[in-house]
Amino acid sequence: MKIFTIVFLTVLSSCLAAKEFPEDFLFGAAGAAYQIEGGWDEDDKGASYWDVFTHIPAKIYNNDTGDVACDSYNKYKEDVALLKELGLKSYRFSISWPRILPDGTPIKINQAGVDYYLNLLKELKAAGIEPIVTLYHWDLPQYLSDLGGWLNPQIADYFGDFARICYKLFGDYVKYWITMNEPSSTCVNGYEQGIHPPGVPLPGAGAYQCAYVQVLAHAKAWHIYDDEFRAQQNGKVGLNNVCNWLYPKSNSTEDLAAQDRAMEFTCGLYVNPVWNGNWPQVIIDRVNYTSQKQGYSFSRLPEFTPVEIDYINGTSDFFALNIYTSYLIENVAEEAFPTPSLDQDAAYNISGDPSWTQSDAAWLYSVPDGARKVINYVNEKYKPSEIIITENGWADLGQLADQGRISYLKDYLSNILDAILEDGINVTGYTTWSLLDNFEWTDGYLYKFGLVQVDFNSANRTRTIKDSARWYQNITSTRQLFD
Ligand code: NOJ
Repeated sequence: MKIFTIVFLTVLSSCLAAKEFPEDFLFGAAGAAYQIEGGWDEDDKGASYWDVFTHIPAKIYNNDTGDVACDSYNKYKEDVALLKELGLKSYRFSISWPRILPDGTPIKINQAGVDYYLNLLKELKAAGIEPIVTLYHWDLPQYLSDLGGWLNPQIADYFGDFARICYKLFGDYVKYWITMNEPSSTCVNGYEQGIHPPGVPLPGAGAYQCAYVQVLAHAKAWHIYDDEFRAQQNGKVGLNNVCNWLYPKSNSTEDLAAQDRAMEFTCGLYVNPVWNGNWPQVIIDRVNYTSQKQGYSFSRLPEFTPVEIDYINGTSDFFALNIYTSYLIENVAEEAFPTPSLDQDAAYNISGDPSWTQSDAAWLYSVPDGARKVINYVNEKYKPSEIIITENGWADLGQLADQGRISYLKDYLSNILDAILEDGINVTGYTTWSLLDNFEWTDGYLYKFGLVQVDFNSANRTRTIKDSARWYQNITSTRQLFD
């Protein structure tokens, strides 16, 4: 009996072998201005196109808006106290462009907005928490949207001015800047499908034009930092995108080629220009081919000039990578799509595997192996010197006993750690999505991603720590994960 117990315990402890995150690994949590701040028109803030869009009936689940959200505009001290209590070392947040520049232009700087972010940065500094600051997390000033938004190349210049003002005002506190959050979401949801603002579908052209302008805007912000601020401030400026690993539905040559295309249409379209100087070749070829078939005398994909290629190439100091899930990809002939669209150009079907665990949000499956695969893919393809996982998280209905989130985070973190320890990839940080339950865009307050619950029915937006937060606190303080 005794021997049996010893053998059992030995086997158990070898199964429970701990693996450890590097000492300086930056564990943290993330959020974004429109999703948490509220105060949508407080203290002279201007309107963003999300403020306008959410006020149109029937655009958002339950007609929810970000007018008050988590009220972090007034409760940021509580948010920082929560980060501190959970032992987190970094906080990713975004700056609301129209809170700093009400109409998006440098004509008027809103001092109350500036003070808000300075106070937040000071609070973080006092708590020993590293800020990772996103300049654009989707809240374009309405005035700039009226000027054509992300379809107008001049918006890149406006963005450059905004970036410069932020570097000047906040740069002493910030070592990590992210320019654009998920251009893929802005461009496909906003300008291809029209389910995000500005809300006008432009299939087959809008997403490409938006990607073109966002890449130029990113590059402009990077160059401004490089030329005017890097020497004194010594920080890093990177582009973010969501890149999920996509599995081929079968091993047929067609499905493997479709898998490759799918990685490029969802990830490479936005990041390849910045890391390798141009659109992925397969996208250039595909859009050219379908455009010609449709009778165009040019490709619907805007062409970068040689001068632009030189300007955008190599403009990211680290890779800010969001990973959520995976899908299966199956080749489909372009004839299956009735009208010109990005989907027609890409020519594949995307689906989930019924064996994968699905979250309450139908689009989000737990496929943890995909995290290690996509980190390897990004590392080999773009060769960044540093990768930060800037979002990764699980959707549920907001319960405090959130075992589903714990399982998801554990499995994804385990794969991320394998990419570091076994594959030797320089992943230096991880900011889980999200610190707080918050406004989930067109899903309103239906799905929750927070480590901390927010009571959206209480006037003071009461925050309550969930089980996952305590679990995460334990991982971040010990840096150990058990298999
Ligand atoms: C990515 C976006 O950056 C974030 O704003 C959103 O809430 C999460 N995905 C979850 O959908």
